[in-house]
Amino acid sequence: MTTMDIFHILQGEIHSTVFATLDENGLPQTCVIDLMLADGDGLYFLTARGKSFYERLTARPFAALSGMKGGGTLSTVAVSVRGAVRNIGQARLAEIFEKNPYMAKIYPTKQSREALEVFQIYKGEGEYFDLSQLPPFRQSFSFGGEAVHETGYRIDAGKCIGCQGCRGVCPQGCISNTVPRAIDPSHCIHCGNCFRICPVKAVEKLG
Ligand SMILES: Cc1cc2nc3c(=O)[nH]c(=O)nc-3n(C[C@H](O)[C@H](O)[C@H](O)COP(=O)(O)O)c2cc1C
Repeated sequence: MTTMDIFHILQGEIHSTVFATLDENGLPQTCVIDLMLADGDGLYFLTARGKSFYERLTARPFAALSGMKGGGTLSTVAVSVRGAVRNIGQARLAEIFEKNPYMAKIYPTKQSREALEVFQIYKGEGEYFDLSQLPPFRQSFSFGGEAVHETGYRIDAGKCIGCQGCRGVCPQGCISNTVPRAIDPSHCIHCGNCFRICPVKAVEKLG
């Protein structure tokens, strides 16, 4: 999947997400925020100048968010994103109201909309995690010129002695039967069992 495919799921299908920002004491605060638009330049949301969420974003312009869809853990797809945020004022506000008509019920008049400002998450990275299939499917992605920061575990081919240790403890069967062993990162759930059991320390923790 491309980053745009994932953005469309996040903005169009999930839409209401949980954001984390840092307060003046450096402590995390969460709140529910709707993603109003998504394009090749990032994700867009809005808030009102009077909110403490607005103050937190202005003081520390970074956010992490998660959203999910599905009914129960084993039918859920989740997307998490973290990145840098900038205020783009009222640019795209009209487009946001046009594409999200329910907003007119919350802010019915032009005058009431004067409190609103639009924010863009313009660079960052994230993860798509699909638990509706087993083994689960995960994919990292980035946008705005950020590099994908690989997480999880990797087997050093030069050190692997081809024993069955890691394969025996992998709960999702995502380690190859070939030697040297290799981990399929799209199905790895990062439990670390392979890392702990490897007798020659061939498994490395990434990130
Ligand atoms: C489904 C849902 C969607 C929401 N979307 C937004 C939003 O897009 N922007 C916003 O400012 N507040 C939104 N809110 C309200 C915020 O979650 C709420 O005002 C939040 O607690 C504000 O935090 P603050 O009081 O710390 O500023 C939404 C609430 C719900 C339940």
